[in-house]
Formats: sequence, C-alpha cells, structure tokens
Amino acid sequence: MHGGKKRVGVLISGRGSNMASLIEAAQAPDYPAEIALVVSNRPGAGGLARAEAAGIRTATVDHKLFPDRASFDEAVGQAFVQAGVDLICLAGFMRILSDGFVEQWTGRMLNIHPSLLPLFKGLRPHRQALDAGVCIHGCSVHFVVPELDSGPIVAQAAVPVLPGDTEDGLAARVLAEEHRLYPLGLELVAGGQARLEGGRTVLASGSRTALGLA
Ligand code: GRF
Repeated sequence: MHGGKKRVGVLISGRGSNMASLIEAAQAPDYPAEIALVVSNRPGAGGLARAEAAGIRTATVDHKLFPDRASFDEAVGQAFVQAGVDLICLAGFMRILSDGFVEQWTGRMLNIHPSLLPLFKGLRPHRQALDAGVCIHGCSVHFVVPELDSGPIVAQAAVPVLPGDTEDGLAARVLAEEHRLYPLGLELVAGGQARLEGGRTVLASGSRTALGLA
C-alpha cells in the first residue's frame, strides 16, 4: 500500500489504449489505485510513449533476450516487486505467462478480454462472435489464472452486434466499452470490493454491481 492507494503495474505489448484509460482513471484523487510502472515486452511499443507522456515510469523487458518463458516472467516479476507493485493489470499484453508467475500473483492480477467470457476465448474474439452469429458481444475483466482467458470474472459490459458489422467495426465498439470497464474493474479490486476467494470472485456486500452498465 502507498498512501492508501494500491500500486499497480501494467503489462503491455502494443498501443496501450487500455493502459491509457487506467492511467486517466487513476488521476482521480479518490481512485483506490495508482499506476506505479508500465512494462512492455516489446521495445518501442506505442504504449510506452503514452505512459511516459503521462509521467508514469516505464521499463522494457524484451522477451527475445530471455532463453525461456520462466526467466522472462521472473524478470518482469522482479521489476514489479522492485516498484512495490500490489496488483498487475494485463492490457493488450500478447504473451502467455507461465503457471508459476500466475500463481505468484493469484488474486492480484487482472486482464481484460474483448468478449463476454467464457465465450470466445483466445485470439480474434470479434471474428468468433461474427462467425457464431451472436447478437450481444462485449468485454470482460477477470482475475488471471493459468488457463488462458478463464479466470473468475470481475466485471462485464455488453454491446450489440449490428447488421453488416465488420470485425474492425465490432472491435471498435467493444474497445470503447473496455476503456470504461477496466477502470471500473480495477477500482472494485483495488478498493477491496471484489476479491478472488475459493476460485471465485466475491463481491463485498453492498458493493456496486460488477455489471458495467453506463
Ligand atoms: C484490446 O481489444 C484488448 O482487449 C486486447 O488487445 C486489444 C488492444 O488493447 N487484449 P490495447 O489498445 O493495447 O490496450
């Protein structure tokens, strides 16, 4: 803890638009978290410049420089521990983390996935949604567990699938909701209103619903 706020480490691989929405939300004085460090596995990721422009410390841990997954994960974990991070947020992070790393951060690591989990896990969820012909799609903030995109859900937001939607059009509609939902999900966990217990998300009684309605 640091002045009552949870210290958050954000892991990115790309442009970092979800990271940017977390940075913006954390600027509110009463937000229960502060962004302590942004780490990218890709040198030159666009999100690094966005974080630096916001005055947030950044680091690059280039996965190509490590002999195996575990040693890369170890270097990432050390960077976060040295920065006094309490919670990790994966934001457009495109690597699979080792079971050991995930277990070390059980209940303290969140991800946002652009589908209504457990539907459409993995890559190209919007393509999967269009191929499945669903009418409702959306995004999910969840605790990270070793199995990909399978951890207990903290919050979800829904969007309609409209006639003629393309993969890019649907992705953009979902992304706008991600930018609203991730700060809400992090707030619930950092504020102690949602926690991982017995493999499930437990909401403190009376806390706001985890349904990300506008
Ligand atoms: C977003 O749809 C996110 O849900 C997924 O990657 C996309 C890009 O995220 N994980 P960002 O703009 O890099 O935050």
